[in-house]
Amino acid sequence: MKKIIIANWKANPCLAKRAKKDLKIIEKGVKRIKHEVIICVPFVYLSIKTSLELGAQNCFWEQEGPYTGEVSPKMIKDLGCKYVIIGHSERRKYFGETDQIVNKKLKATLKAGLIPILCIGEKSGENARKVISEQLKKDLKGIIKKDLKKIIIAYEPVWAISTSGGGFCSPKKAKKMMDLIKKNTNNKIIYGGSVDSGDIHSYLNAGFDGALVGGASLDPREFLRVIKNA
Ligand code: PGA
Repeated sequence: MKKIIIANWKANPCLAKRAKKDLKIIEKGVKRIKHEVIICVPFVYLSIKTSLELGAQNCFWEQEGPYTGEVSPKMIKDLGCKYVIIGHSERRKYFGETDQIVNKKLKATLKAGLIPILCIGEKSGENARKVISEQLKKDLKGIIKKDLKKIIIAYEPVWAISTSGGGFCSPKKAKKMMDLIKKNTNNKIIYGGSVDSGDIHSYLNAGFDGALVGGASLDPREFLRVIKNA
């Protein structure tokens, strides 16, 4: 079955030359791949010419106006992009994004015709079921049914993200949260948290529709192995 494999490059690489080179390697490698592959790159790389599907990692909640330094969903859409990550735990942590902000961003993104990839997940020591239920309720508040189903939900236990501990969330444990999300929504659900070419299969086998891959997507050859093993 066709899966959604999303690379999250975060603020990497710091040179455009390298970004272009890595995209070329991935571009060559994904020919004849049945999965949907999306590379979420920093804004400045969104206009690189490639046949790959590029996505953004964030956006603002207004479409235009006096908001110095912000990039709007309409601008991203105008570049030909379809996808944008919203509410990643690093944005919640370093930029103070609350569920209310995430909710506004989701609405603006959907209004602009983009597909949001909503990240939810508990921090170390938190009650996962409680956090996920609350995030879903607040983040999706007031979004109409026809828009709601477009959202891809990424379950990312924060403590399992490679750069914030990289703890191991077993596919069995992740599945429990997937089931909880499924009870509340009808959306595609992907998994994120230190996924690499060695374990991608076990998360997909557990029933996830795909994966959000950070660290392992920074090496284009490893990312190609992730896709091949999916
Ligand atoms: P990771 O990152 O694969 O490096 O854990 C995933 C993410 O932060 O989206």
